[in-house]
Amino acid sequence: MRFDVITLFPEMFDAVLRYGVTGRARERGLFEARLWNPRDFTRDVHRTVDDRPYGGGPGMVMMAEPLDKAITAIKEDQAAAGLSDVPVVYLSPQGRPLDHQRVLELAALPGLTLLAGRYEGVDERLLARRVDEEISIGDYVLSGGELAAMVVMDCVVRQLPGALGDEQSASQDSFADGLLDCPHYTRPEAYQGQAVPAVLLSGHHAEIQRWRLKQALGRTWLRRPDLLKRRGLSAAEQELLQE
Ligand code: ADE
Repeated sequence: MRFDVITLFPEMFDAVLRYGVTGRARERGLFEARLWNPRDFTRDVHRTVDDRPYGGGPGMVMMAEPLDKAITAIKEDQAAAGLSDVPVVYLSPQGRPLDHQRVLELAALPGLTLLAGRYEGVDERLLARRVDEEISIGDYVLSGGELAAMVVMDCVVRQLPGALGDEQSASQDSFADGLLDCPHYTRPEAYQGQAVPAVLLSGHHAEIQRWRLKQALGRTWLRRPDLLKRRGLSAAEQELLQE
């Protein structure tokens, strides 16, 4: 998979390109990322990418032209690599909230262009002409779209086949089955007077699976009843909760 990212701060993306699961996935060629700085598409000596908002008010707005040119250059570069119809996604709090289902859909694409804005936002005419979709990562405001773009890249990359080790597949992630994750424990067996649940030491695989499912169901029930309402419960799960 290929990501093209438009950002005024390309260095920030080291966080996802160099570290951990996503860093290894990139090293192994599971995805590549190209970073495009809108300043490289300006014409003035100051390399201006923002200006004051029409109608007044605080802050600055990202100008349409440098972003327009960056997107055109990206589409040419993608076409040269045999990629077409790669969606352009703008990260913003006005976007559709990202969820696991959308992550799976994005991970099935051959490419994704991510536009990370700064300042008060981007000239609306650029969004109307060149952006296919707006995505929000939650109901709060970040200082820029970079962290949101990295969130999208991270959760998409971990879904790419081979990104996670054999025994740690994305199908075991919480949300893969529509539930929150169960609790996890590691050594020592007793910590500050608290023991590890005995079932986890029993070696009884089926019992452990049942316990984990029960915990996941119970936690989801308590913490995120909205998820359960949407998903419903299988007959086996209902039985388990009744025990
Ligand atoms: N940019 C600023 N805040 C954001 C958010 N919550 N989601 C996506 N992009 C953003």
